[in-house]
Amino acid sequence: MMNQYALPINGTPVSSKVKPFRTLHYLGSKLRLLDFIKTVVDEVDPKGGGICDLFSGSGAVAQHFSKERKVVSVDIQEYSRVICSALLNPFDDSPVYEFAEKIREASFCSEYLSKIAPIIDIERRVLHGDFSSSLETVCDFLESCSLYSQILLPRHDINPLFKKPLLETASNIWPANKHKFLVTSYFGGVFFSFKQAAELDVILNGLNFVDLKYHDLLKASVLSTASDIVNTVGKQFAQPIRPRNKSGEPKKGLLSQLNKDRSLEVFPIFSEWVERYATNKVGRFSHKVVCSDFRAAIDSLENDVSVVYADPPYTRDHYSRFYHGLETLARMDFPEISMTNLGDRSELSRGLYRKDRHQSDFCIKSRAVSAFNDLFYKVSSKQKVLLLSYSPYEKDKGSHPRVVELEFLLDMASKHFNSVELRSMGKFSHSKLNRTDLHLKAGDTAEVLIVCR
Ligand SMILES: C[S@@+](CC[C@H](N)C(=O)[O-])C[C@H]1O[C@@H](n2cnc3c(N)ncnc32)[C@H](O)[C@@H]1O
Repeated sequence: MMNQYALPINGTPVSSKVKPFRTLHYLGSKLRLLDFIKTVVDEVDPKGGGICDLFSGSGAVAQHFSKERKVVSVDIQEYSRVICSALLNPFDDSPVYEFAEKIREASFCSEYLSKIAPIIDIERRVLHGDFSSSLETVCDFLESCSLYSQILLPRHDINPLFKKPLLETASNIWPANKHKFLVTSYFGGVFFSFKQAAELDVILNGLNFVDLKYHDLLKASVLSTASDIVNTVGKQFAQPIRPRNKSGEPKKGLLSQLNKDRSLEVFPIFSEWVERYATNKVGRFSHKVVCSDFRAAIDSLENDVSVVYADPPYTRDHYSRFYHGLETLARMDFPEISMTNLGDRSELSRGLYRKDRHQSDFCIKSRAVSAFNDLFYKVSSKQKVLLLSYSPYEKDKGSHPRVVELEFLLDMASKHFNSVELRSMGKFSHSKLNRTDLHLKAGDTAEVLIVCR
């Protein structure tokens, strides 16, 4: 049931009592704010028209509304498209359940693992503490085990314990079998154990044996698995584990931190994700998933979409920095990796960032104002209601300053819409261009929605 007034347009809703699940460990996911957002959406559009989840990220908002309204999800990143496509078009079919077992038993699975067996074995022994009780060997391993870096910029000062297995594995993969080992060669030993990385590769390559219609569901399950097992603080891909403290000594607790994530088994976690996506319930609407810049996506919004919910980034931190690994898994495109300039020389970026990593206008001071202006202009021209999320800057909590301040946005919105209201969780201030009313009181740092009509 929608709220008591709502009648869905052109579709059949399902109960929204089942709460959406978290698809990714994701900064700024709106999972905890869904009830608040829904209250406001149902209020501004009680007829149950379609909603566009602009900047859909981990898909929390799209997932929530897909039960009761038509959803159009939009994000510039392919990993978000894959996740939203899996959420909005679930397939509770036997091929998706049988996939993992079939792939695991296929001969190519053991063939893949055997190609990188030398490095899997050495990693297992390093993490088991077989070589010495000192953590120096573990640090050495983490600092030199990247296959991508070894292939591109070979180093010769590698600990002799793992030099041979590393070189042997690299030559087993590169160049003849390069296309089969995306995760292993880019992220093995760095973000995942080599065994985990090879198993993720097995699953991604296994997609060749399954109907195209199941690809997004299975790929989304790979992305969620990767997000669960990635061996970093905070489960993102901005920086691999730093094995040493500032004075260069191995960090205490290093081994347990490594073993905790690297011992996680890929296939069982993947199967759980497949089941979660496959059994997800959506209302029967013609949901759409778009991977593009927000401007083009707004231009092509259909008439049956009445509300645009927008959750753009607000700080200088590009989302692509934290999730480039997921983007590479989603695109399976063997990207060039960016270099860091160190003055006298350059080296591969520590996080192994894609060179073409998306730089969002919203995160760049000189471009953000114009991006917001485009957002307001385009949504108002399409005569849709805009709900713009904004989380005020909490100085004392150490959060990053906002690229554009709330008051500035309110002013700008007022130039494009007749009515601009501010809703905060539990609080409501209404104004038609009245700046004093719109001014948030100091300390009022709850998430807000700017409602533009
Ligand atoms: C704050 S996150 C959205 C979080 C999302 N609401 C959730 O609950 O997971 C912002 C998103 O905006 C996307 N983005 C940034 N610039 C974009 C642009 N120009 N066009 C489309 N999407 C963009 C990023 O890829 C990121 O996924």
